[in-house]
Amino acid sequence: MSLPMTIPAPGLPARVRIHEVGARDGLQNEKETVPTEVKAEFVRRLADAGLTTIEATSFVHPKWVPQLADAEQLFPMISDVKAALPVLVPNERGLDRALTLGATRVAVFASATESFAKANLNRTVDEALAMFEPVVARAKAADVHVRGYLSMCFGDPWEGAVPVPQVVRVCRALLDMGCDELSLGDTIGVATPGHVRALLTELTQENVPVEKLAVHFHDTYGQALANTYAALQHGVTTVDASAGGLGGCPFAKSATGNLATEDLVWMLHGLGIDTGVDLGRLVATSVWMADQLGRPSPSRTVRALSHQE
Ligand code: HMG
Ligand code: MG
Repeated sequence: MSLPMTIPAPGLPARVRIHEVGARDGLQNEKETVPTEVKAEFVRRLADAGLTTIEATSFVHPKWVPQLADAEQLFPMISDVKAALPVLVPNERGLDRALTLGATRVAVFASATESFAKANLNRTVDEALAMFEPVVARAKAADVHVRGYLSMCFGDPWEGAVPVPQVVRVCRALLDMGCDELSLGDTIGVATPGHVRALLTELTQENVPVEKLAVHFHDTYGQALANTYAALQHGVTTVDASAGGLGGCPFAKSATGNLATEDLVWMLHGLGIDTGVDLGRLVATSVWMADQLGRPSPSRTVRALSHQE
């Protein structure tokens, strides 16, 4: 097992928290629904590899995302896993389902564009925000941590480039609602580092604390690591990634896999940034998962370290 040589660069954080989304963002996009036992084993292996935040599933409408329709069966099977296990909830019905099972971290998911709000939530942007408001209020009252996702922060498959002020408005609404954390999504992977920097700079000027921000890059155009580096330089310390580079969004054409967690860990460890992740175990997990899915992982690091082709 080779490891990157460690050579720190100035102006970067000492530690990064990885928000692992493979079990949710990854598996929601699989053509064949993965058996519940395999999902549970995946989450367990990710925790054993040192990941401390593992997004487990979604309590969305089962007809919209049949791949995650087993959330009620899966969640109790992983309740003993030693990691935070956030789940997606779009509305109060989803929150009820999550709270019944004892979830302590939930995520609502908004859109910066009208087209994706309609495609993903069957709502306008503002109708979706109104749908989230009672979800966030009730979650906070129950002492549940709330992440707010914002999709299409950089580009949208129907509307093209998304103006920064349009993104900032919805960020502000999610934070004002009480979200503890805000994850900036490049749902279709079109962002480039200057654009990332421009959005983060604007959010800082609008007094959004950088500690509340996470970045969520899909790797469609191979930009996810470069974009992550730009975010780290700005002070972001929470990065979303998906083991093996699984993922995409069934409601956004041209969305491919997330930034692969292994590729992220290789870069961070090379920079001397602590993640708590054991890269060898993580690669073994993605090789195992690739075997379950019947195709090789798209992660360059998984391929290089496992000679998987
Ligand atoms: P709708 O059709 O407008 O639903 O869908 P509704 O509110 O009109 O309700 C219709 C029926 O669905 C009702 O049942 C509800 O009870 C039921 P009826 O009274 O007719 O018998 N229902 C539910 N059942 C179970 N669980 C629920 C639920 N909600 C309603 N939670 C809805 C609106 C939001 C439900 C739907 O659009 C939906 O489920 N969307 C989810 C889409 C999704 O999961 N997308 C992927 C995640 S987002 C993503 O991947 C992006 C991200 O990674 C960041 C990035 O990359 O940018 C996060
Ligand atoms: Mg995503």
